[in-house]
Amino acid sequence: YVLGVDLGTSAVKVLLVDKKGTVHQSVSRDYPLYHEKAGWSEQDPEDWVKATIEAVKEIAESVESASDIEGMSFSGQMHGLVLLDKDNAPLRRAILWNDTRTTAQCREIEEKLGLEKLHRITKNPALEGFTLPKILWVKENEPELFNQAETFVLPKDYVRYALTGNVHMDYSDAAGTLLLDVAEQEWSEEVCTAVGISPSLCPPLTASHADTGALKEEIKQQTGLNDVRVFAGGADNACGAIGTGILEEGAVLSSTGTSGVVLAYENEGTKDFGGKVHYFNHGEENSFYTMGVTLAAGHSFTWFKETFAPEKSFEELLELAAKSPAGAQGLLFTPYISGERTPHPDAEVRGSFIGMHASHTLGDFTRAVIEGITFSLQETMVMFKEQGKTIDRVVATGGGAKSDLWLQIQADIYNAPIVKLKSEQGPGLGAAMLAAYGSGWFGSLKEAADIFVEEKERFQPDTKQVEIYKKLFPLYQQIYSATSSLSA
Ligand code: XUL
Repeated sequence: YVLGVDLGTSAVKVLLVDKKGTVHQSVSRDYPLYHEKAGWSEQDPEDWVKATIEAVKEIAESVESASDIEGMSFSGQMHGLVLLDKDNAPLRRAILWNDTRTTAQCREIEEKLGLEKLHRITKNPALEGFTLPKILWVKENEPELFNQAETFVLPKDYVRYALTGNVHMDYSDAAGTLLLDVAEQEWSEEVCTAVGISPSLCPPLTASHADTGALKEEIKQQTGLNDVRVFAGGADNACGAIGTGILEEGAVLSSTGTSGVVLAYENEGTKDFGGKVHYFNHGEENSFYTMGVTLAAGHSFTWFKETFAPEKSFEELLELAAKSPAGAQGLLFTPYISGERTPHPDAEVRGSFIGMHASHTLGDFTRAVIEGITFSLQETMVMFKEQGKTIDRVVATGGGAKSDLWLQIQADIYNAPIVKLKSEQGPGLGAAMLAAYGSGWFGSLKEAADIFVEEKERFQPDTKQVEIYKKLFPLYQQIYSATSSLSA
């Protein structure tokens, strides 16, 4: 067996996976989030360690012999800053990816580095969630504490350090710090110097499948594990891509959780998206992925249901939506109910229904919501295509993969075959695949995906519907500019 540890924002989930990719056990442990001020979001790194040890212990107790567990690896919530002192002890709580206190630091980075350099080196925009703005925030607001900082790591790196005693960061997670030269796969001294951060703060870099050392004796005792090899692991989005087989050009992921992600495999790190999409190193060596985010994807649908049809189930609403034709009889929806990220990094814009008519039904509204969410994801697909990418298949996961109607709408809006998987294990499976590859079970992550990731069904685009959506999409796109300055 191998273990895939998915260190999320509300819980850690550990999967026990065998050589065929079958998940035998899944154990979760929650931990608290601290929101001491508006926009702040923090966690205690020791809570992650404690929860991980407990979950792993429960799994180790469930197998016949703990020696059957050969390797483990990690998927981690991205960007969170864990600042360490000279003894590698956390100096403060971790500041998480969804903490938004750092707008001033983002502008400072853009000013000191210049947008051209920022995008050329880091490949990404300066967003509040990323790590470098958090480092600058601590430097400016907690200078005494910052002076004691020797290094920093990201959430899953701290857990791995607690298990092995070794400090590392893998490229896929390092890419979300804004300190990595993404194409060169090394820390950027140029960025460090421009913003006044010592390059010595940056930890040693490693590949996601690299062996990072053995478990400490005390951890073996606490978990009941034996000689388990510990592999570095990757960012949750990279592991999500691995776990859904996004490991070759032409493969794209469309994931609709609370937020939505469109993610494409890239075999080079040198394209120029001008910071419009996220461009990160993959968990596979020397490869990359690009990614766009719709902030309120599933959230728009649950908000709509709770607000307008709380007595109906999702299934009932989807049945009504299936009776509405493509285009929802001229009704359009933009899913900006909590602002937007891609292609419009705009926290202030609000959502809208456009084109309402007295003949519109609840089914039309539901369909318009689903189409609006999918149009928003399509905006990222279009940016990929503008860079010359061909999209051979889109793997759908999350809420949008649970409904045949929504899967077909994705096929028709993206104009690409949509793949539904047999089972969805999320980033934890990608972490397990990194451990399986690291342990030598497979010669590559692609070989692991051939065994671990199984396709259930494909939805092909319907030419007629594709034409309808092609006409509507430019109208949808106009709504952003027409409404972005409107607010009551
Ligand atoms: C990615 C991001 C989120 C977190 C969630 O840029 O902020 O996907 O990784 O864990």
